[in-house]
Amino acid sequence: MTQAQIIDGKAFAAGLRARIAEDVAKLKALHRIQPGLAVVLVGEDPASQIYVKSKGEQTEAAGMRSQTFILPSTTSQTDLLHLVSKLNNDPDTHGILVQLPLPAHLDPAPIIAAIHPDKDVDGLTVTNAGRLASGLPGLVSCTPAGCLMLIKDALGDLTGKTAVVVGRSNLMGKPMAQLLLQADCTVTIAHSRTRDLPAVCRQADILVAAAGRAEMVRGDWIKPGAVVIDVGITRLPARDPEKAAAGKTRIVGDVAFDEALQVAGWITPVPGGVGPMTIACLLNNTLIAARRLSGIEG
Ligand code: GUN
Repeated sequence: MTQAQIIDGKAFAAGLRARIAEDVAKLKALHRIQPGLAVVLVGEDPASQIYVKSKGEQTEAAGMRSQTFILPSTTSQTDLLHLVSKLNNDPDTHGILVQLPLPAHLDPAPIIAAIHPDKDVDGLTVTNAGRLASGLPGLVSCTPAGCLMLIKDALGDLTGKTAVVVGRSNLMGKPMAQLLLQADCTVTIAHSRTRDLPAVCRQADILVAAAGRAEMVRGDWIKPGAVVIDVGITRLPARDPEKAAAGKTRIVGDVAFDEALQVAGWITPVPGGVGPMTIACLLNNTLIAARRLSGIEG
């Protein structure tokens, strides 16, 4: 059996960002509109700080207007709601993203609900979840949108394929399942309570692992030739005990990569697979939002 083809998410995302930058330039030249993204970070979570910095840099690199609001971890629910309301009413802001997780004293549900659905570039509001479930145009959560692009690039038409999504979060598992259903797949959402998870995964022509458990999906969970999309990111101590003792780490996904490589047809690596697609799709959503809010389609 030959090894799986490695899906190069980094290269795909670079191509997508280049296309977005061209479209942004056209929007500016033809309509004098510069898409604007506002990202809000509350507190000092180190991983979130890295993501938010990267979002700002890539937004500017695409020619968009980037605003980053860094608020202290003591920010109140009222102050955060006030900022969201201000951004909802700002005509130069087309996309709003409140970085999750929020500090424990803040309740994320009312904050997300306060974001104008047409500026909700995370696709997290009930309105956008409902639009997706009903097949109406809306804004779709970035990571699943990026995963779908990679799956279609590998397989082309997805009609009739069996897809299994492991994980049921609002940000990933549920919208991923909806997108695959819309692409005419037969879809199962599996989760931590699913009985005989390996047997369920083994049915999948398309297996999306988004459970947040390092290297959970083993080689013998995978149907030979399947497309395996690994959404997990976990930082573990380095394999070499000396390096681990020195504090060195490695990033792994939800799939045992070396085992899966021997069985799958296509597989995303971690890092360099799904990760780079998320920000590229965030820029894409900001562009879509800017066009729709300005009454321009296409
Ligand atoms: N934290 C980790 N990923 C995401 C994301 O896609 N959106 C938001 N808002 N927070 C996140």
